[in-house]
Amino acid sequence: MKKFLLLFTLSAHFVLAQFTDIHIIKEIRSKDRGLVVSAHPLASEAGAKVLKMGGNAFDAVIATQYALAVVYPQAGNLGGGGFLVGVKNNGEKFAIDFRETAPEKSSRDMYLDNKGKANTELSQNGRLAVGVPGSVAGFFATLKHAKLPMEKLIQPAIDLAEQGFALTEREANLLNSQMQFFNQHNTAKTAFQKEKWKAGDVLVQKDLAETLKLIQKNGAKGFYEGRTANLIVGEMKRGNGIITFNDLKNYHATERKPIVFDYKGNEIVSMPLPSSGGILLAQMLKMSSFENLENFQQNSADAVQIMVEAERRAFADRAEFMGDPDFIQDQTSMLISDAYLKNRWKSFDKNWATPSSAVGKIISQTKESTETTHISIIDKDGNAVAVTTTLNGLYGSKVVVSGAGFFLNNEMDDFSIKPGVPNMFGAVGGEANSIKPGKRMLSSMTPTIVLKNRKPFIVVGTPGGTTIPTSVFQSIVNVVDFKLNPNLTVNLPKFHHQWLPESVQVENGFPEITLKLLEKKNYIFEKVSQIGRTEMIVIDENGNAVAVADGRGDDSVAME
Ligand code: DON
Repeated sequence: MKKFLLLFTLSAHFVLAQFTDIHIIKEIRSKDRGLVVSAHPLASEAGAKVLKMGGNAFDAVIATQYALAVVYPQAGNLGGGGFLVGVKNNGEKFAIDFRETAPEKSSRDMYLDNKGKANTELSQNGRLAVGVPGSVAGFFATLKHAKLPMEKLIQPAIDLAEQGFALTEREANLLNSQMQFFNQHNTAKTAFQKEKWKAGDVLVQKDLAETLKLIQKNGAKGFYEGRTANLIVGEMKRGNGIITFNDLKNYHATERKPIVFDYKGNEIVSMPLPSSGGILLAQMLKMSSFENLENFQQNSADAVQIMVEAERRAFADRAEFMGDPDFIQDQTSMLISDAYLKNRWKSFDKNWATPSSAVGKIISQTKESTETTHISIIDKDGNAVAVTTTLNGLYGSKVVVSGAGFFLNNEMDDFSIKPGVPNMFGAVGGEANSIKPGKRMLSSMTPTIVLKNRKPFIVVGTPGGTTIPTSVFQSIVNVVDFKLNPNLTVNLPKFHHQWLPESVQVENGFPEITLKLLEKKNYIFEKVSQIGRTEMIVIDENGNAVAVADGRGDDSVAME
């Protein structure tokens, strides 16, 4: 009896030790072994574990996302949405759109008061800010490309939620910083509320474990119908929420044709509308290639000017033309055509900053950024997957579904709630991105896979709102044109411009000489502490792979 107890204690301790020992690994090199890079070491490990069980990259990405929904509540989610780009070893390329939708009771002017003034507090916080969640439908849509049953892929997340895991210092601080909002937006006490979190505290999420078990047992219906749906609709009723049972039941993830284009002999595969990411990436890469970027150095004044001007023109188009292709005329082929872009580039002047008013009809101004998360994975068989998922803001709407244990998104703010009123990332838009029931809000997420000789060469993506496409743009240019290694590519200071505001953001540590030279040409800079968290895998022609997790967070790599 005593022996049994001892054994039991030992194994319980072992399990707990597994989740309280957090090892952040920033870079792994490998050949012929699967690699997973995500925002949290335990989530990357969940993906690697599934690869070891014989799963492929698509199995691993499902397991990693479920795990992130537990260990990275600021952005990993069941209550949000995202986009996935996959390339299979047989050459098949696909994109899965599991973006949130506007509820059936939503309407174009729902965030305007009776004087027509937009109320961004309502589109950004609390129950009215929530779009119909897409993540769980997205995981099931991905399953078609996977090998293992969902029951197995979800198990690591259930263990993490039930047994708990140790918070890193960064997470503890983040939770503390948001406590007043959790208190303000929740009626019942949630697992995330506590006087003060500190590093090493164990976060246990019993309600979330129950929700995950329902999905394990009943499939997507375990989320969109039955108990979980009841709890979501119940949560809506505790405030001004409008999501109905029908909204949940009718939600569908959609497989879309990725955007595919050539960049200097590399085949880029990225996300189409309703994300603006792939279009912007194509526009920026193509426009900057008119100026032989490869002749300049990374972050030099010449290179930055060319790239900023490409960003300015692309983002002006975002505001005017882009939205959910099921609701608007899809202008993608025109927007990424060489003829259109050459014409757009005619106003480039290397002696002077192009005023934003010269490339698009000016609308309005900016605010700061928050949270999303990206995963890059390759497996030993040559499959690759990039997925970016989001709650939009940090912990989304800050509302936790009482009894179900997960945060709901505040994605409605990504619609243009009124023409010219910027969203929380300063992006403006008009009719193309106006609110309509069932419509998907325009995104900037840019999960991207670059192929060389038809094989995965770069797998990349990042959070960061509107800075996502510009970060992915820089990542690709850094490797292809400036020949930087993946670590420098991810970790050197980045910059960002988005047409409006007129200024260019640069991360602290950006070369001063570049700023001085460009200020003489009328560029205005704004220093910011961080842009994005890039998760990148680069594989050379001989199959040697390097996976790098961004140094700006607790992001971590795991190997099969
Ligand atoms: O879909 C989008 O573009 C935004 N909701 C993404 C938000 C985001 O990346 C926040 N992360 N830092």
